[in-house]
Amino acid sequence: MEPRHRIQDINAQLVRAALRNQAAVLDEVFAIAAERYFSHWGLKEEDLAQATEQIARLSGDGHCDYTRFGVPFEYVLRYQGRQVNTALSAMFDAVLEHNGPVRIVDLGAGTAAVEVAVALLLHALEAHGIAGDRHVEILAVEPSRVMFSMGRLLLEELEQRIDPQRLKVSWWPKAKTIQPYNPLSAPTWIVGAHVLHPPFSPDTWAKPLHLLAERLQAHRIYLTSSRRRADYDLIWGVQAAMRVSWGIARGAWELAPGRIDDVPYALIGGGSEGWVLPKTAAVARAAYGEEGPVPAWHRYPPSVYRLLRRGRARPVAAAA
Ligand SMILES: C[S@@+](CC[C@H](N)C(=O)[O-])C[C@H]1O[C@@H](n2cnc3c(N)ncnc32)[C@H](O)[C@@H]1O
Repeated sequence: MEPRHRIQDINAQLVRAALRNQAAVLDEVFAIAAERYFSHWGLKEEDLAQATEQIARLSGDGHCDYTRFGVPFEYVLRYQGRQVNTALSAMFDAVLEHNGPVRIVDLGAGTAAVEVAVALLLHALEAHGIAGDRHVEILAVEPSRVMFSMGRLLLEELEQRIDPQRLKVSWWPKAKTIQPYNPLSAPTWIVGAHVLHPPFSPDTWAKPLHLLAERLQAHRIYLTSSRRRADYDLIWGVQAAMRVSWGIARGAWELAPGRIDDVPYALIGGGSEGWVLPKTAAVARAAYGEEGPVPAWHRYPPSVYRLLRRGRARPVAAAA
């Protein structure tokens, strides 16, 4: 058991230092997993062209088809660094605050950005001998078999480079079929990382999120988004719809920017100085040529929103 000041003041510094050292490992992991994916599915030129067309929709308000074979490949080359950055901020609380088992349900896990971030955080604590009794079990909910095929490859590569003992990841195809399970009575987080995009509406998210939170007795829900106005509005809409549909009092859930100041959001990227994942960039060039996808990162703090349940469940920090 660690006093809160130690977690906040000391661990955050150590974690930051340890995470910085992982940039080269991540570069190799992204590059090798992408290459393995390319050969495994025998990607062709038309798959790459389709991927570019689908992924371009993400910057508009269109719907990206994540079942296309090329999409996870381009997604990792272009976005994985950025997504892991966001997930690090979102998952910092989950990993650090509670010295014991924690359960995370990752909705729309995609190419495992949340899982990679949690693995890095646990590894950083372990490296400094301060992991305590922490263990994280993640249920990665992802309906697209090609997205989770890439996620699995990334985790396989990561596990060969860092100690995976404190993390268990299970993949699950549908949120609707998640059964209540909680063998360890572990505090539960629900995470939706970059899943709230137009054309979804608040209603399409609020009801299933509510049911899931009830079933799993979730302590917290974390939603992350890009800083686009439309995503931001959608998150606020979800909160409002949940209040109405649950009839809960104002303030029973708190939606607040949950950015963790001590963890650098631009950890993996080089900010405006340039990209620092040369191996990943080389795979992108080999597949697409010089005009291909440029790996992206957050120049600005990611948007992380936290819905904290009060009243029925103990806050995790107090339980630690
Ligand atoms: C933009 S990606 C985000 C992936 C990952 N969370 C990240 O931060 O990189 C959105 C993911 O949500 C998945 N998805 C779409 N509809 C879903 C649904 N109804 N339930 C769960 N996941 C869904 C997609 O297949 C896709 O992998």
